[in-house]
Amino acid sequence: MDTGYEDTARRPALPWWQTGVLYECYLRSFQDSNGDGVGDLAGLRRRLPYLAWLGVDALWLPPFYPSPQADFGYDITDWTAVDPRFGTLEAFDALVADAHRLGLRIVLDIVPNHTSDQHPWFQASRSSRTHPQRNWYLWCDAKPDGSPPNNWLSAFGGSAWAWDAPTQQYYYHAFLPQQPDLNWRHPAMAQAFFAAMRFWLDRGVDGFRVDVMWHLLKDAQYRDNPPNPHYDPRTMPSNDMQLALYNTDHPDVHHLVARMRALLNAYGEDCLLIGEMYFGDDRLMRYYGAHGAGAQMPHNQMLILTPWDPQAIGAYIRRYEAMLPAFAWPNWVLGNHDKPRIATRVGRPAQARLAMMLLLTLRGTPTLYYGDELGLPNVPIPPAQIQDPFAQRDPGRGQGRDPQRTPMLWDHTPQAGFTTAARPWLPLHADWPQRTMEAQRQEPTSMLHLTRRLLHLRRADPALQAGAWTPIATQGPLLAYTREQGERRCLIVLNFAPEPQELVLPAALRRRPRRCLLSTWMDRAPVAEGGPRLTVRSDEGVLLRLR
Ligand code: GLC
Repeated sequence: MDTGYEDTARRPALPWWQTGVLYECYLRSFQDSNGDGVGDLAGLRRRLPYLAWLGVDALWLPPFYPSPQADFGYDITDWTAVDPRFGTLEAFDALVADAHRLGLRIVLDIVPNHTSDQHPWFQASRSSRTHPQRNWYLWCDAKPDGSPPNNWLSAFGGSAWAWDAPTQQYYYHAFLPQQPDLNWRHPAMAQAFFAAMRFWLDRGVDGFRVDVMWHLLKDAQYRDNPPNPHYDPRTMPSNDMQLALYNTDHPDVHHLVARMRALLNAYGEDCLLIGEMYFGDDRLMRYYGAHGAGAQMPHNQMLILTPWDPQAIGAYIRRYEAMLPAFAWPNWVLGNHDKPRIATRVGRPAQARLAMMLLLTLRGTPTLYYGDELGLPNVPIPPAQIQDPFAQRDPGRGQGRDPQRTPMLWDHTPQAGFTTAARPWLPLHADWPQRTMEAQRQEPTSMLHLTRRLLHLRRADPALQAGAWTPIATQGPLLAYTREQGERRCLIVLNFAPEPQELVLPAALRRRPRRCLLSTWMDRAPVAEGGPRLTVRSDEGVLLRLR
């Protein structure tokens, strides 16, 4: 019998990071276990069965290393330890062991661009101009008038140079002054960082997400950045007033990424290297490296940055697919701890469902942000409770990033089961009892069940996991495409409008009988349908099997 699977059976198995789905588990807000109002490793370990039930494959853990928390863990004082707020090394090992037993991989966030100003390396570096570690960081003399060496701006507002009075030089910080940038041109510094990477690989982690990968090397001559002709102070953060030509995306960064990748390859070619970046053009493609010697996943955040419009999104997917080098594997990110939640961005709750169907039916590895499976929106933060230094330093940032970092909603117990503390570190949604995981688990048509069903359909279907992506020409509010592998073919139609729409199918697809596997409304029984037209209801996304 022709099952249509013969060709897939002959294919070499794809690595886990191509077939799998990544879940960003923002540790501070996932599950508290010791009643201090902040999530931790033991709390996450308790919730692993939920993540396995949901159907994700790998967890990306933001930094849990010792840190004064000036930038919530992205300011690190020790690369190879666990901050007591989050647990111990033993708790980490136990988490990895349990995760692996459940088939979940662990990907750690590493922050090679900068340390905390409290890191012993920086303390040594700033202790005197002649200290052997002085040049592990980027120090420069003032201009004759005492001003900073150039015009580079911090992503968190203001000049990127901080004056160090005792040693009479400026140091560079792309982010907070408490986050001095490392000098990746210093061989001993590079070796010390690589040793830290090996420390975690030896403990069994499955890969890394490299924080701000495009920042790692800067112009050796420290040339001034040019002004940005498109700068609009009403809509753009203050550092966007210049083009970050000389302090980011340096051509030599690709050699460094290749060295990181080689280090990971020694632990197995399926050891994953993700690079954080915020562009979707040929610059992103370069992070795959020559012949694939770079990151397997230069994080593609364009679903976050592109307006929520089917024609704009469709055009970007086509461009991205066309730009990808032949060896490269695509990936898609719907949300993260730095950007407003997708449910808030798209407005109507039904559109958050559509976004989930889009993310989980595109070709390439999806990254899902915790709580998006519940359709959680941003939480408005009262001004007195704002914690994000980003918001405090740059008034243009509004409430900063706190609204998308609030506690996960588990059940109806106090603080939604997140903590036994009287107050979690950030407030909960005002209407949290209706939104919890437990409430949604009881409700068969919930966003949680939709997400789970999509994850399970994807896992079971080679066409959805790895099949070719082919767009169908549409106009107006529809986005439609097929996914195809061998004889297996799926059709996905997404309606971005609050009114029903009709899609006239291309001739080649009309003859095939089709069966609806899933609607974002979660109510459509799988019925056989045919004919040249397909109707989708308001805000509906459908996933159909074509035969
Ligand atoms: C990355 C992190 C962000 C952090 C910044 C500086 O963009 O995702 O949270 O503030 O790097 O480390």
